[in-house]
Amino acid sequence: MNNHNSSKGFFWKIVITLTGLLVVVGFAYVLITINLSEKYVQERNQRLNADIAEHIIAEVKPYVGGLLDTTATDEIMGHMMAINPSIEVYILDADGVILNYVAPYKKVKLERVDLAPIQKFIASKGQQYIEGDDPRNPGKQKVFSAAGIVEDERTIAYIYVILASEEYESASEKVFNSYILKLGGRAMLLALLSALALGILAIWLITKNLDKIITTVKRFQAGEMSARIPVKEGGGINDLAIAFNEMADTIVGNIENLKSMENLRRELVGNVSHDLRTPLAVIHGYVETLMMKSDQLTIEERKKYLKITLESTHRLKKLVEELFELSKLEAKQVKPKKEPFFIQDLISDICQKFELVAQKKDITLTSATSPTRSMVYADVSLIERVLQNLVDNALKFTPKKGQIMLEIDNSDQYVEIKVSDNGPGIPKEQIPFLFDRYHIGDKRISLDNNNTGLGLAIVKKILEIHNVTIKLSSKLNKGTTFSFQLPQYESA
Ligand SMILES: Nc1ncnc2c1ncn2[C@@H]1O[C@H](COP(=O)(O)OP(=O)(O)OP(=O)(O)O)[C@@H](O)[C@H]1O
Ligand SMILES: [Mg+2]
Repeated sequence: MNNHNSSKGFFWKIVITLTGLLVVVGFAYVLITINLSEKYVQERNQRLNADIAEHIIAEVKPYVGGLLDTTATDEIMGHMMAINPSIEVYILDADGVILNYVAPYKKVKLERVDLAPIQKFIASKGQQYIEGDDPRNPGKQKVFSAAGIVEDERTIAYIYVILASEEYESASEKVFNSYILKLGGRAMLLALLSALALGILAIWLITKNLDKIITTVKRFQAGEMSARIPVKEGGGINDLAIAFNEMADTIVGNIENLKSMENLRRELVGNVSHDLRTPLAVIHGYVETLMMKSDQLTIEERKKYLKITLESTHRLKKLVEELFELSKLEAKQVKPKKEPFFIQDLISDICQKFELVAQKKDITLTSATSPTRSMVYADVSLIERVLQNLVDNALKFTPKKGQIMLEIDNSDQYVEIKVSDNGPGIPKEQIPFLFDRYHIGDKRISLDNNNTGLGLAIVKKILEIHNVTIKLSSKLNKGTTFSFQLPQYESA
């Protein structure tokens, strides 16, 4: 519930921010538009009426013999204003002092106008946007037209025409404002509203996914290690979801790794303390006897004790090695390094290795390999270990003059490997426990042997990590067959 609220709060925060932003943009847009349109209108006004002052000079000679002819100027300027009521005409002397003017209602407040913009205007021939003093509004700037009255190459006066009179301007402003409001304003409002709607939709879509992400992260945080964010193709926050999922996988992998290491440690400690006790006690006992009673013992006795001690150390060594191997397998520390290899070659190798032991026991060890050499896909050294343990068992439990066979059967996808002997067989009641660790079947057979009861447990584990099960068929006094299947390697 909490995470839900937090993501909803997030949603509203973004929506409010977006709305605020759009309102600001809307205001800014309206202000800028009004301002620019005003300037644009004025610039056009100035350009269109740039030479109006020149015309006035050409029309009426305001100066006659150096003196201002006010009646003439009044008349002509009156006419001009009748035609174009938006203008106000001023006559300035060479210093910018207003000598005469025609303006509605005669509300002129300035006595003198700044000449700098006027001179700039004349120099640019009216091609530049320039604003000058408005004699009726001190401090306000307006567009104008101007021309100099030149006598004897000296400018003695200026005609200065303000292009939008106060009344005209206020009227135009009204029209302009309502126009903007009606047309531009509506269009702008529409644009802003659709932007807002689209924005909210986008935010909703994004935060909706965010909701899923937050929920999943919280579930993971609460200990649900399998929680993953569903990733849809092309979603906006997919990268985040994928990154989180990968991170979660890594964390889970690390935890599992740590767990399996911990299991390995525990197994090893437990097994070592339990299993090493017996051989160690044996060694201890015999060595102690040898030391304490050394003068009372015959040479034969001494030899016998030493032999037992040596055998016990062998047993100890084998036990430690196999325990470690099995512990690693059980703690999932061993990952099969699968590769294609010829199974026939491995079997010949094994046969060669056990040749001598077989000869000693007068056992025939044969391998029946098919004519087609088949490749399997597995970890070669682990499979070698499996075959070693199976052949080792067969040799150990099969009496003299027995027979051991290693066979390969090809099927479509699999290669079946069989290790069979014609030994004593395994009693039915033992079969369920055969692959358990420390299961030593018939004590009479194995008592004097170097047995740990770990061989078949290791075989089962190795095949398990290959996803392979081992099969067993056995008949008492007839023999035993162990078999398993490995996947054939399809060479491309
Ligand atoms: N080919 C076989 N014929 C008869 N009995 C067998 C055969 N293979 C295994 N067994 C029985 O299964 C038991 C368990 O075998 P496993 O290989 O696990 O232990 P082990 O051979 O006794 O000891 P280790 O292999 O550690 O030296 C054996 O003790 C034996 O009784
Ligand atoms: Mg064995």
